[in-house]
Amino acid sequence: MEQQLNQLKEEALGAIRSADSVRSLNDIRVKYLGKKGPITDLLKGMGKLPAEERPKMGALVNEVRGKVTEVLEARMAVLEEEAVSRKLEAEAIDVTLPGTPAGTGNHHPLTRIVEEIEDFFISMGYEVAEGPEVEKDYYNFEALNLPKGHPARDMQDSFYITEDVLLRTHTSPVQARTMEAKEGQPFRIICPGKVYRRDNDDATHSHQFTQIEGLVVGENIRMSDLKGTLDRFAKKMFGEEREIRLRPSYFPFTEPSVEMDISCFKCGGEGCNVCKGTGWIEILGAGMVHPNVLRMGGYDPDVMSGFAFGMGPERIAMLKYGIDDIRHFYTDDVRFIAQFHRAEG
Ligand code: DAH
Repeated sequence: MEQQLNQLKEEALGAIRSADSVRSLNDIRVKYLGKKGPITDLLKGMGKLPAEERPKMGALVNEVRGKVTEVLEARMAVLEEEAVSRKLEAEAIDVTLPGTPAGTGNHHPLTRIVEEIEDFFISMGYEVAEGPEVEKDYYNFEALNLPKGHPARDMQDSFYITEDVLLRTHTSPVQARTMEAKEGQPFRIICPGKVYRRDNDDATHSHQFTQIEGLVVGENIRMSDLKGTLDRFAKKMFGEEREIRLRPSYFPFTEPSVEMDISCFKCGGEGCNVCKGTGWIEILGAGMVHPNVLRMGGYDPDVMSGFAFGMGPERIAMLKYGIDDIRHFYTDDVRFIAQFHRAEG
């Protein structure tokens, strides 16, 4: 039995030494020291030995068990440490490697221009007003002094939904809606928004684009107020050296009506490709609110007067940033949009 024990010990120690992983060492522990292992069997079989041999054999089995346990624990410690360092090595990160840059977003150039224009007028005491894009014929035309059959309706080819409902062709209907809502009180508003026209898309036309409308109504509002406002606006948007000029024009909802040009910001008035050699660039339409429009909005034209203007932010952005095709605004090509990263202020 003693010999059997020694053999068992050598066999166990040999297996422990050659174990190369925590898992195989655990298998060895179960095999030799477990409840169903040979050492437990030997201890269980002690009862069959003559009484005088039991203490000696008991001590011997305990000694073998102690030795095997001790060597196994030591080997386990070594293997565990090796496993940890292998894992650390595998997970090691080279902190000197260059990082992956995170792309940052920026505002669309059109959003920027609209906000810049809004900010200027807000600083002059205007409120921002909005209206629906699906609009009643009444607000889009009728209330703006464009009754059915008026030839000027043809100036704007419309998308009709029903006989009385259409996609608004301009932001001017917000003028009529605001007058109704203000019930005779004076006000100043700016109305940005999308508009729609039955146009074939090309470099300078789009079936959907943006407008910004302005309207001021009150007592003693005069043409000089309009001129002063537009002059400040032109200088703010295009530089303090800009001059403006008002040319007579026609809009059904204003009388008199004008178009505003600014002196060319590229050549300063000498004549170049931006101003097509004229020294002037057309920016917007404006005028004094027509008495019929005031009346339909619930204002007495003998007591109140007003001025209005309307402009296209796409055109302003195209001029300001030298963009040659209006379709760039709507096709979401990041190479286009990203060019306005640095200009962000
Ligand atoms: N609604 C006009 C258009 O779409 C632009 C316009 C011109 C608006 C003169 C106005 C204005 O308020 O006074 O062409």
